[in-house]
Amino acid sequence: MRKSGKFITIEGVEGSGKTTQCALLADYLREQGIDVVVTREPGGTRAGEQIRQILLSPSNNALSPIAELMLFLAARAQQVAEIVLPSLESGKCVICDRFSDATIAYQGYGRGLDLDSISQVNEIATQGLKPDLTILLDLDIETGISRAVTHKREFRESKDGDRIEKQDKEFHRRVREGYIELARREPERIVVVPVTGSIKDIHRIVVSLVAPFLVKTP
Ligand code: TMP
Repeated sequence: MRKSGKFITIEGVEGSGKTTQCALLADYLREQGIDVVVTREPGGTRAGEQIRQILLSPSNNALSPIAELMLFLAARAQQVAEIVLPSLESGKCVICDRFSDATIAYQGYGRGLDLDSISQVNEIATQGLKPDLTILLDLDIETGISRAVTHKREFRESKDGDRIEKQDKEFHRRVREGYIELARREPERIVVVPVTGSIKDIHRIVVSLVAPFLVKTP
């Protein structure tokens, strides 16, 4: 079946406020009478959330870059099959906290894995699905990492963040540059929003970007 709902992804470096903006956007769209599904990567499904634990647990510090890549893709394949495609096919708007661009930014630019190979496996995991709109929240990595480590604390046993947040600054710098490069290559899909001002200010910008893409469900 062809998709009919809109697929919006929010991306960004650590601590950029994606999760907050996904939730605010979902609330706003529901107020407008739009049927919305919010999900995240890695995660969203039962299997995906289990894979998230493996990927982000600081105790798995020996995970190889290729094993890491495959786990992100396994979570994505399940998410697309179980949540994203069925929701879009039934006309719902899907908001996803990270998607394929994160793999190119983190495993490609960050870890240095081959970008073309990542695109090919992404294509398999997503069944060729691309977001209609991607909002890239951009901020400097020092501010971002300190915000992420202070506020998220998903793995409370580690005071310097989860397995990926703990990577060195150079890694996070490459990820940020990778995201910016992706936005440069696909300006019609990926819009960069600098994280300055309040959460409400950013939310207003996000709403203004999403508005043209929406069609109310009956
Ligand atoms: P988050 O839920 O806070 O965004 O955490 C997810 C982490 O996983 C974050 O550090 C980015 C990383 N990640 C990748 O490295 N590759 C991917 O494909 C995805 C979706 C996330």
